[in-house]
Amino acid sequence: MEKIVILTGAGISAESGLGTFRDEGGLWVQHRIEDVATPEGFARNPALVHAFYNARRVQAAKAEPNAAHVALARLQQDWPGEVIIVTQNVDGLHEAGGASDVIHMHGILAGALCAACGHRWTAPPEMAVGEPCPACAAPTARPDVVWFGEMPYRMDEIYDHLAEASIFAAIGTSGQVYPAAAFVHEAIASGARTIELNLEPSAGVSSFDETRFGPATETVPQWVAKLLGRR
Ligand code: OAD
Repeated sequence: MEKIVILTGAGISAESGLGTFRDEGGLWVQHRIEDVATPEGFARNPALVHAFYNARRVQAAKAEPNAAHVALARLQQDWPGEVIIVTQNVDGLHEAGGASDVIHMHGILAGALCAACGHRWTAPPEMAVGEPCPACAAPTARPDVVWFGEMPYRMDEIYDHLAEASIFAAIGTSGQVYPAAAFVHEAIASGARTIELNLEPSAGVSSFDETRFGPATETVPQWVAKLLGRR
């Protein structure tokens, strides 16, 4: 049975009102990565880092899934093979749209992580500096998101899925951040057919067999309908 592996990025949540990173007015245009998305930045100024993620957590909690999230959930339900969704996004919109078993390789805003013992728990809407870990009481709570210089989560599992993929799709991602940007090459090595769905060509566009450009709320439902109709 054909296995589909899908990588999503910030572009899939753009039409739900969540800003992307590198587009005009994006998060990395307004904030310095080294201040808010590195372990060193957190050590220097944890209050600034918490304020950044608190604002994003509150905003993400208010956002609604869009037609692209819902279409991928439908694909998961109706496709006879496995459909694995790997997301770089820290929002929970795939799950809110009905998807299951989503692999959050860059973590999740709704999670808190103890930097001392590794314990994980549900983050309050606003985290504060020095909040004690419920397991070990160390005052080292941090958002459960992956920062630059840290290893993304569940990489072995992701590579196992890519090795078995018949179809690989990258949706709403600029292809500028590794290791996710190299997943297409893993998929090609496994013999998968590859497709990019993005607003505009990504940095890695030439690696894909097929491309569909436009807003995710249009291209993703159309692609899913084609896949399901083809059977
Ligand atoms: P980027 O902001 O780099 O790229 C977003 C992509 O989405 C761009 O290629 C846009 O053209 C596209 N896009 C924008 N609006 C869209 C729409 N309505 N429909 C379809 N596509 C649209 O975001 P990511 O590629 O997700 O990591 O960034 C990857 C990682 O870089 C993030 O996970 C984050 C960031 O630094 C960490 O923080 C570790």
